[in-house]
Amino acid sequence: MPRHDPHSYSDLQQGKIAHIDLRIQANFESHILKVEADYQLTEPVSGSLFLDTAGIDLKRAVADGQELQWDFDQQDELLGERLHLKELNKVSSFTLAFNTSNEARALQWLPEVQTAGGEHPFLYSQCQAIHARSVFPCQDTPSVRFTFSAEMEVPKALTAVMAAEQVGVRQRGESRVFQFKMPQPIPSYLFAIAAGNLVFRELGPRTGVYAEPQLIEAAAWEFAENEEKIVEAEKLLGPYLWGRYDLLILPPSFPYGGMENPRLTFLTPTSILGNRGQATLITHELAHAWTGNLVTNATWEDFWLNEGWTTYAETRITEVLTGKESADLMAVYDEQRLFEVMERVGMASILTRLKVPLEGLDPDETTTIIPYYKGCFFLKECEYAVGRERFNAFIQKYMGTYRFQSLSTEAFLDFLKQELPEVFEQVDVQKWIYEPSLTDKRRRPQSALYDEVQALLASYRQGTRPTREQVAGWQRYQILSFLQALPKQIPVEDCKYLEETLDLESKNDAGHYSYFYATCIASGYQEILPRVEEFIGRVGRLLYLLSIFRAMIASDWAKAHARRILEGVRERHHKITVHVINKLLEKADL
Ligand code: BES
Ligand code: ZN
Repeated sequence: MPRHDPHSYSDLQQGKIAHIDLRIQANFESHILKVEADYQLTEPVSGSLFLDTAGIDLKRAVADGQELQWDFDQQDELLGERLHLKELNKVSSFTLAFNTSNEARALQWLPEVQTAGGEHPFLYSQCQAIHARSVFPCQDTPSVRFTFSAEMEVPKALTAVMAAEQVGVRQRGESRVFQFKMPQPIPSYLFAIAAGNLVFRELGPRTGVYAEPQLIEAAAWEFAENEEKIVEAEKLLGPYLWGRYDLLILPPSFPYGGMENPRLTFLTPTSILGNRGQATLITHELAHAWTGNLVTNATWEDFWLNEGWTTYAETRITEVLTGKESADLMAVYDEQRLFEVMERVGMASILTRLKVPLEGLDPDETTTIIPYYKGCFFLKECEYAVGRERFNAFIQKYMGTYRFQSLSTEAFLDFLKQELPEVFEQVDVQKWIYEPSLTDKRRRPQSALYDEVQALLASYRQGTRPTREQVAGWQRYQILSFLQALPKQIPVEDCKYLEETLDLESKNDAGHYSYFYATCIASGYQEILPRVEEFIGRVGRLLYLLSIFRAMIASDWAKAHARRILEGVRERHHKITVHVINKLLEKADL
């Protein structure tokens, strides 16, 4: 029988997990979680139950006081090991005792030196897309949702947090035990834990931020507007159903900009710019509380349902909060990036479809921004077809109908057809979803702020460099789009001039530098290498690192350094980051 989800061994005919109660002990010496977990199923299961695991050392499996028979009977480099619980006899709950591997893909154990304070170790998880199975055996597919309760024991100097509600904390010997519950059903990829020297700061009635003490002040200022955001998001998407919305600022190795773990968005420290310039990142992760966390893609082949919808919601909320001018600028910038990435992967590549066949492919390696922006542009076309008012009503009905459920692209299209049949008369839905590339039959975004950038780029191509006065008042996305659209190679002198003129150093924005260094590398600016190395060692955000490593691979002089630089930072970065960059270098024979 074909699997319902190409990235999970689970067979949903057998039954589904409904609730898990976890008791977790975190060992910062061995880098192992020792776990005991009680599982409840939606209904009694007889026969077999398949669970996803990766590197899990199972010690014991018990149901109704009896040891269960079990076996890891299939394994695969991508999927991990299938845990087969055997000969079940009307089992509706069971207990597993196990240890995680010290190489668990989802868990990053950081030594003291890799934290802002430098005195305490840090642990954090990243389960999306298919790494929850390295933390606990589960049906690691976004189509299964479960509630959970958990306690987590950590050395008493540390604070443990989870993407859940904290319900208690107590002392146990040299440890502290934090208790949590998550009464809303979540898919496994949204399970998240962290522990470190963390302090908390209240920001608003429902919002707050956790960070190391060294960062809390700056973080509290940067994200002070979060409550306002929730209020705006609720107008578009319906009531916020998760209780609180807090942030956790992670150490630099966090591989993403943000991760929408429910109640507790995980965030890169590069988002703290001192000027609230990364506000859209929060808007994005917050919007996931609806588009993704409340209404979830059924499999990673339907990833655009999460990210395309979230990007659409992000642009709508941004439009309200910062005005149409800024939102339009972002839309044009997004379109440029979409073109750039589609050209890189090839217009005919399956990765340029919205529904992507992913059998046998690693989501970490195939994730691009295409489902984000192509998905967003598709939804905008749907909006244009019926008008904003009707589309707004559709959004609310979509959220209401599918809340706490997962759905496939096909189920979404059925719903769209039922609610907004006219869309299908005006928009070639089939083509948008199932065909590669991007149709010309769509409304192109326009932006006066972007046109300003274009004008300066045009004169630059004619030989006139922009002056300081011309770029002085530029928004962040103007600078980003300027850097993004520069000719691939420019004179080294111009690299130096542009860094000065755009005032990149004082802005200290890793997003700017990921483009800037890529241009420097392509342009043969060899003296920049030590700074590039320093950046690669300091910034863990995968997207930023990839653009620099891609530039190195494409450059004759820089190529020779790529492998050495990656090996030099291997211990500092996330396993996912190192894995993905390593694959990139291997493909380039480096
Ligand atoms: N859910 C994603 C991050 C993710 C995607 C993790 C795929 C693992 C697999 C998150 O919401 C996201 O999209 N983050 C973006 C920022 C966003 C503003 C585009 C990122 O990290 O760059
Ligand atoms: Zn996202």
